[in-house]
Parts: sequence; C-alpha cells; structure tokens
Amino acid sequence: MFVISGTSVAADLSNGKKLSIQCSVCHGKDGISRNPEAPNLAGMSSLYIEKSLVDYRKGIRHDRRMSLIAAALSMEQIKDLAAWYSAFEITVRVPEL
Ligand code: HEC
Repeated sequence: MFVISGTSVAADLSNGKKLSIQCSVCHGKDGISRNPEAPNLAGMSSLYIEKSLVDYRKGIRHDRRMSLIAAALSMEQIKDLAAWYSAFEITVRVPEL
C-alpha cells in the first residue's frame, strides 16, 4: 500500500484506485476521457481535484452527474481519489507551428 501525506490526512492510493472504477466510465481507466463532455483527470493536481469534488458536494459547482457522484463521497474518499489521479504521469507534446 502506498501512502502520500495530503494537506491534513494521509491519502490512501490503493483505496483511490478502487474507488476510481466508478469514475472510469466517463473519465477513462487511464484518466484520459473518451467522453467529450468529461475532462481528463490524469495528472491533475490533487488540490484541484479535491476542491472540485468538494464544490460539487456543497453545490458551489453544479453538474447533473458530478453533483450526484460527489454527494455520495466522504471527505476521505475524495482525498484518496485526488491522490490517485494526481499520481498519474502524463506527457504532453505542444503542437509545432
Ligand atoms: C457519468 C459520467 C461521470 C462519472 C461516472 C464521473 N464523472 Fe467526473 N465529470 C463528468 C463530467 C461530465 C464533468 C464535467 C462537469 C462540469 O462541467 O462541471 C466531470 C467533472 C469532474 C471533475 C472536475 C474536473 C475539472 O476539470 O474541473 C472532477 C475532479 C471529477 N469529475 C472527478 C470524478 C471522480 C473522482 C469520479 C468518480 C468518483 C467521477 N468524476 C465520475 C462526468 C462523470
């Protein structure tokens, strides 16, 4: 089991992986979305993922899918998911002009 220390509580990567099964339908198993409406999560900062999920949960941000999904997550689960997706390594190639 890998443990990364988050801002307050230590996040559990392997639990994040387990929880991410429900996210992969829309966000892709590799965090790269095949659904044009859903953003890529791979390599996103854990801070941003956590904030987005908390905002959906609080109703600060609204989306018919994400608001329902985030409402069902505990703060601990949010931290584990944020740790999981932020740990993905991505490479980027900027278009040449
Ligand atoms: C039914 C499809 C669906 C599922 C399942 C789903 N998402 Fe999403 N997710 C979306 C869509 C669509 C958006 C964009 C919503 C918006 O415009 O605010 C989104 C947005 C997000 C964002 C905000 C990203 C950004 O760029 O601002 C995060 C973080 C996120 N999802 C995490 C998750 C996690 C974690 C799970 C699993 C627990 C999950 N999602 C499951 C469809 C889904």
